Order: sequence, then C-alpha cells, then structure tokens
Amino acid sequence: MDDKLDGVDLNLRNYIKENIFPKYSKYYSHGMIHINNVINNMMMLADYYKLDKNMAYVIASYHDVGLNISRDNHEFESGKILVNDKELKKYFNNEEILLMKEAVEDHRGSRKERPRNFYGECVSDSDRDFDIDILAKRQIATSLKNSPDLNSFDEHFIRCYAYICKRINGNGVFNLWTNNPTLVKKRDEFQKEYLNFEYTKFIYKEEWNRISKDGTMKKIINYYEDY
Ligand SMILES: [Fe+2]
Ligand SMILES: [Fe+2]
Repeated sequence: MDDKLDGVDLNLRNYIKENIFPKYSKYYSHGMIHINNVINNMMMLADYYKLDKNMAYVIASYHDVGLNISRDNHEFESGKILVNDKELKKYFNNEEILLMKEAVEDHRGSRKERPRNFYGECVSDSDRDFDIDILAKRQIATSLKNSPDLNSFDEHFIRCYAYICKRINGNGVFNLWTNNPTLVKKRDEFQKEYLNFEYTKFIYKEEWNRISKDGTMKKIINYYEDY
C-alpha cells in the first residue's frame, strides 16, 4: 500500500488503475512515470492544503489522458473524458465534477492565466518537471514527435530550451501558482542548473546520444502515441 494515497477511496483507486492508467501505456513522455510523479506531487499538496483527496487523485490521474486525441487541446480532451466518465458520478456531485474538469483544463505550464480554481493551481504546479534529467527525457521525446521537421540535436535543443524558458515569470523564476514551500525549494535547485545553458545542453546531448544508440529514438517516433 502506498501511504501517499491514504484517504483515497479504494474502489475509486481500483477503477482508475483498471480503466484509466492503461490508457497511458502507449505514451512515452506522458506515460505512467510522469503520471505517478504528478500524483505524488498532487497528494503532497492535498495533504498540505487539506484538499479533498479523492478529487486530487482523480485530477492528477486524468490530467493528460486526452493526449492521443489532440496534443494542442489535450487538456480539454482530458476534461471531456473526466466529465463523461459515468463511474465518477458514484463518488462526486456535479459541482465537484465541474471543479475537477476545470482543474484538468487549466493544468498546462504554457498557460499564462492563473487557473480558475485552487485544484487547477495544484495540478499545474504538480505537472512541472523540476528535474533536469527527467525534463531532458520528456522534452526530447515530445520534440521528436511534435517537430518532425527538425533534423539535428541542436535544432531540437534550441526549441526545447526556448519552450521551457517561456515559463519564467515576471519575477525571473519558473512560475509556480501555489508557491508551496516544497515545490519552491525543488524549483530553486532546478533553476540554478537549468539556467546554465551549456550545462543543460550537455545533459540533453547525453540523453540524445543514449536514445539514438539504444533504439529508444526509433520507438518514440514509430510506436508511442503521445504528442
Ligand atoms: Fe499535459
Ligand atoms: Fe502532464
């Protein structure tokens, strides 16, 4: 048993394990490693801010599930899947379902406006990768899927780096909505490394070389379905 999930209804957990998690099996950068990271962050925040644990768990579990329908609108596709899921109506009233849908819809880091509710702030902050190795893995994969027109490592890297740097806010830090102390600490440590352009480039290049050699790059391009 995972302590972090204490307070989440067991039947709800089983339903999600059997029906939602398998939908992530053909995703690479949005696969279960990512989803479990988001769940862990989200449950930490739910504990800290005394949120509804069932709602926090559902939001984290469903937030990227719409990805194979459309990348650009995946947050809205995920929201639709959540709202249309009849099983969830056994656990939540309409108001709670609407709140969860809005939270999922507002999770993206590229979004400039503050999420409409606090659960949205929490899932958006939980979705950040304040770990340079994880970010390198996920971003290179996404770039390969999303920008097949780019050919070289340098082209992909410049695009990836610029994309993440757009998330620096007016205070010169990678944006967090909640400013939760645990996440702020992680963010500050990450930021020190990431803003060293040459160091970050070196880490990304190592990841690029690794996946070129071991066949992962081919699999990302030909097999995985996240964009
Ligand atoms: Fe997402
Ligand atoms: Fe995500």
